[in-house]
Amino acid sequence: MTQELTSPSPAPQAAGPDGARGWWRDAVIYQVYVRSFADSDGDGIGDLRGVRDRLPHLKELGVDAVWLTPFYASPQADGGYDVADYRAVDPLFGTLADAGDLIRTAHDLGLRVIVDVVPNHTSDRHPWFQDPELARQRYVFRPGKGAHGELPPNDWESVFGGPAWTRTDRGDWYLHLFAPEQPDLDWERPEVHEEFAAILRFWLELGVDGFRVDVAHGMIKAPGLPDIGHGEQARLIGSQVLPFFDQDGVHAIHRTWRRLLDEHTGSSGREVIGVAEAWAPSVERLALYVRPDELHQAFNFQFLNTPWEVAALREVIDSSLAATVAVGAPTTWVLSNHDVVRHTTRLGGLARARAATLLMLALPGSAYLYQGEELGLPEVVDLPAEARQDPAFFRGRLGVDGSEAVGASGTSGQDGFRDGCRVPLPWSGELPPYGFGPGGSWLPQPVDWGRLSVAAQTGDPASTLELYRSALALRRRLPGLGDGEMAWQPAPAGVLALRRPGMLCAVNTLDRDVEVPVPGELLLASAPVAADGGSAVLPGDSCTWWAI
Ligand code: NOJ
Repeated sequence: MTQELTSPSPAPQAAGPDGARGWWRDAVIYQVYVRSFADSDGDGIGDLRGVRDRLPHLKELGVDAVWLTPFYASPQADGGYDVADYRAVDPLFGTLADAGDLIRTAHDLGLRVIVDVVPNHTSDRHPWFQDPELARQRYVFRPGKGAHGELPPNDWESVFGGPAWTRTDRGDWYLHLFAPEQPDLDWERPEVHEEFAAILRFWLELGVDGFRVDVAHGMIKAPGLPDIGHGEQARLIGSQVLPFFDQDGVHAIHRTWRRLLDEHTGSSGREVIGVAEAWAPSVERLALYVRPDELHQAFNFQFLNTPWEVAALREVIDSSLAATVAVGAPTTWVLSNHDVVRHTTRLGGLARARAATLLMLALPGSAYLYQGEELGLPEVVDLPAEARQDPAFFRGRLGVDGSEAVGASGTSGQDGFRDGCRVPLPWSGELPPYGFGPGGSWLPQPVDWGRLSVAAQTGDPASTLELYRSALALRRRLPGLGDGEMAWQPAPAGVLALRRPGMLCAVNTLDRDVEVPVPGELLLASAPVAADGGSAVLPGDSCTWWAI
């Protein structure tokens, strides 16, 4: 059945510096995992100068904006998602001057910059948590259960495994939905709201174009912190509302933040945005985060988690578009990030990954790319345990009572194996660290990554890098791509065909050739295609774009 899905006209937006209205509605945004992108000083850890020096790669790739993962002062218990000072750059990554320099250089190149903000929790080294009096006021402290308060206040589990509570030497317990080094803030307290508003303003003044809001579904907990009644709770994230995630109360915070962002847009003329990292149980609940008075974008993890299969893909695309169209927002597609297995490996090979990317970039809305996917990097699955740093790796084996018991793997993807997608990028050369920096690299790189480097792939028309460059160039050239209309076309079993204004995208999800009717000139293909007049033979696991 052919179904027409039409996005409503974009809501009126203030213009950006280049006059673009609603730039984010169809933007392609590239995620830089700072410690693994490029290292300027030889300590083996990527840094802000490294990012700045490599911005021309992103310009040439053709993305619109860059999202930088946290580079703030942090003991690095969770790769910087444990922030000790939200207004300072960690010396590992550089200085505040380097951050300003990076933002200016990006803007000069026409790239916008989004930074992470981590409001659900701070580091346990944050000055508020270090002061026992302030800590009790601004974090979630509760007395323990049991005759002597020796049991946790409830049965909640940390996303990283083990109990979500730790007892202090003062005898009370604090909540940490992630690592014990990441105590949850108490968002019932006005000081917490005021502090984060000030943090947002600080970075806006420095010139950022928006924020990726970490755990945007987490700040508000169900009243009374009720027990869940069973274990393995991390497995339910993304499929059920839990008393600690996706509570309706979080939306009031996003509304306040949207007003703050809009005020800045109004006064600066630069349209600044918020993107929610929200694990919601359905695309409909996810769409609540992008209502007109909330955040602009929310990563579509339902799409990311969809198997390579026609019915499932079609269903998630339809339901995602319907849910976001209903609130006037675009859908924000994503296939990889620093928390999940790279899609080359997750989907079962590079052919599928290339096809999935071309499908994603043909869909209405915006898309996020994760560094290294443009090189077709696979997940590194054989990292030695002693090299790993993901706290979930070490805690994933803990049961709720703290004993070695269950795994923490869940649909959230925070399964303890996140180091495998965080291996530093190969830029050039035949030997590690492949141009990553003048020293080594904080995680070992595979011995065969020389052939995957940016230098090795540049100019090779069959390379994944050139495929991404061509796709992004076409996305800019074809006005019908990005935000707007989409309609399914009839297609043989195993094939998805969708029409955008001026373009048809055909995806063969089977592992064998399929002949399909095609309208005209071949624009782009993830694998070699034989076309003859009005039909073409699509190789297995491929995606093609055709001019109409
Ligand atoms: C989501 C981030 O993407 C992840 O890396 C981090 O561990 C958790 N939030 C906790 O901040």
